[in-house]
Amino acid sequence: MSNHEDRIISGTKRQEDQAAELSLRPKWLSDYIGQDKVKEQLSIFIDAARHRRDALDHCLLYGPPGLGKTTLAGIIANEMGVNMRITSGPAIERPGDLASILTNLGQDDVLFIDEIHRINRTVEEVLYPAMEDFALDIIIGKGPTARSVRLDLNRFTLIGATTRAGLLTSPLRDRFGVMLNLELYDIESLTTIIRRSAQIFGVGIDSEGAKEIAKRSRGTPRIANRLLKRVRDYAQVMHGTDIDVNIAKSALKLFEIDHLGLDQVDRKILLALIESFRGQPVGLDTLAAATGEEKGTLEDVYEPYLLQIGFISRTPRGRQAMPNAYEHMGIPYEQNEQERFI
Ligand code: ADE
Repeated sequence: MSNHEDRIISGTKRQEDQAAELSLRPKWLSDYIGQDKVKEQLSIFIDAARHRRDALDHCLLYGPPGLGKTTLAGIIANEMGVNMRITSGPAIERPGDLASILTNLGQDDVLFIDEIHRINRTVEEVLYPAMEDFALDIIIGKGPTARSVRLDLNRFTLIGATTRAGLLTSPLRDRFGVMLNLELYDIESLTTIIRRSAQIFGVGIDSEGAKEIAKRSRGTPRIANRLLKRVRDYAQVMHGTDIDVNIAKSALKLFEIDHLGLDQVDRKILLALIESFRGQPVGLDTLAAATGEEKGTLEDVYEPYLLQIGFISRTPRGRQAMPNAYEHMGIPYEQNEQERFI
């Protein structure tokens, strides 16, 4: 099985992204590029909560990795003028761990839980009264003499992040007042993000060069910033100059990233759909077995982009390759291919 996290075009966070993202991260909603629907809604909710001197309602941010969910949570805290505590579902092992985080939050603070779908059941149950009543129910004693004591918490805003809202249990999902879906970015927004990042890095890049990198970034700012850094290295070593479209193209060719940002795994998926299954719809389990990738990875990392560029479609009977995927792979598409093989 290939490790998708190793790919230069993986949306998953890597160590090297951490430092860069801190300096690249916008602090205010007005600096955050793209996601206009999300920004419009958030600015209304933030304004309203501030005028009422209230905490913002709990928010669930969902969408593919690398789109800026943590960044957005930081912006929300900053706009509300409160502190943010960051943790993740798998990091909170026991109910006591969560209880200690919650009791240490200041008035109206933001608690950000990344990968909130991975929180375990006993921890999740502590969250319910905390989210609903800002209270902790602590059980004292054991057996028939056990009793429950309610401890009040400061009012706070929980911001949960996940790749798909459907991964949450419904009682947890129902406790979020605001649900925001982050979508893959268009080329124009990514171009602007790349130009902004280049400026922060102190690298010269023209708009055509930025657009070339944007086109290969799979709708994902984290990938765009990573490619920018690699193209910068290439420009520096090979040319000692700023980045233009030709330098971007030759660098990306060297890194084996095609003009749509597809890599070996994407091609393996497309080939499996086209050849192994002869263009028929394929279920997720079958596709996972055929490609050696995990189901969750296929759904969260690969499919969103292949769907966005119209290379695959999701039918009730499974995934299917579309005509432009055949064209991209250099395989002739025949309208009645399905009938031919039945
Ligand atoms: N860096 C990563 N995502 C960004 C965004 N949406 N706006 C500005 N800079 C970003």
